[in-house]
Amino acid sequence: MASFKDQTLLVTGAGGNFGRIAVEELLARGATKLIAGTRDPAKLADLAARGVTVRKVDFDDAASLPAAFAGVDRVLIISTDGIGKRVAQQTAAIAAAKAAGVKHIVYTSAPAARPNADAGLGIEHYWTEVALAQSGLDFTILRDHMYAENNLMGAAHEIATGQLFGLIGDRGTAYVTRADAARTAAGALLTAEGKSIEDVTGPAAVTNVERAALYSQLTGKPVNSIAITPPELTAGLVGAGLPEGFAAALVAFQVDAVLGFHGVVTDTVERFSGRKPQTLADFLTENRAALGA
Ligand SMILES: NC(=O)c1ccc[n+]([C@@H]2O[C@H](COP(=O)([O-])OP(=O)(O)OC[C@H]3O[C@@H](n4cnc5c(N)ncnc54)[C@H](OP(=O)(O)O)[C@@H]3O)[C@@H](O)[C@H]2O)c1
Repeated sequence: MASFKDQTLLVTGAGGNFGRIAVEELLARGATKLIAGTRDPAKLADLAARGVTVRKVDFDDAASLPAAFAGVDRVLIISTDGIGKRVAQQTAAIAAAKAAGVKHIVYTSAPAARPNADAGLGIEHYWTEVALAQSGLDFTILRDHMYAENNLMGAAHEIATGQLFGLIGDRGTAYVTRADAARTAAGALLTAEGKSIEDVTGPAAVTNVERAALYSQLTGKPVNSIAITPPELTAGLVGAGLPEGFAAALVAFQVDAVLGFHGVVTDTVERFSGRKPQTLADFLTENRAALGA
């Protein structure tokens, strides 16, 4: 397997949760010329103190992008949280990377990214993937499946009420931990060649019925999975106080799980990170405190 550990590697969004883990993994795996890019370099003073080059990288600031990508051989572009402006942000980054002579881009995308109107947040990832393909550069598109962490947002409430609402026909989701996905991205930055699209998944598809059973086992409280329609789920989420756009995006993910898009299981995590992905049961056990019981 090729190793690019001695090339100049840039991680954008290094100040985020995912970026921090990716940078640590790159250091642990011997990267010698690592640049941590972030909108706010002051937040990465600890990395700078450890000898990592910290550079300002803000996709919204077009004038700064040539300097941001200067001298970089390979870049990990972590998708931003700027929902609604991500295509503009990320295509600007891809264009700047190409202009600066970057040879390979790793990008964190989403499962079943597509332009279809029902694809929720996947639409922005799709158009970013298109920009990558049109750039002519080599790329590794990592379609990161649902983070196991996402479950922690609703778990305590679901356990307290004993009700886990999901969609009729759910076929399961291969939850992957953020840490496994970030270590996979680091591995791709260090070793991937050519052009590829990879689904980054946990070790098994877990249905809502199985997730409710896990919550029961871990807490001793009865939790039932209740299957409803997409409009009912949307109304419930909005009624619970979620903004409409966010509720629609969450329901779109669940509809994709009904379609089977989230049930895919691959060996991508193990291939790039060298470790088996953590199971949802182990992740929840580790995060038992967040279950509120
Ligand atoms: N698969 C899933 O279930 C799932 C769930 C949630 C999120 N995601 C995606 O995964 C990404 C990383 O997750 P996370 O947990 O690390 O999120 P996070 O901690 O909220 O980080 C947000 C990220 O967006 C970057 N960013 C925001 N505006 C930017 C700009 N103008 N230019 C460049 N970078 C910008 C941040 O970089 P700096 O702060 O360093 O500038 C940071 O890396 C998210 O941004 C989102 O696209 C996936």
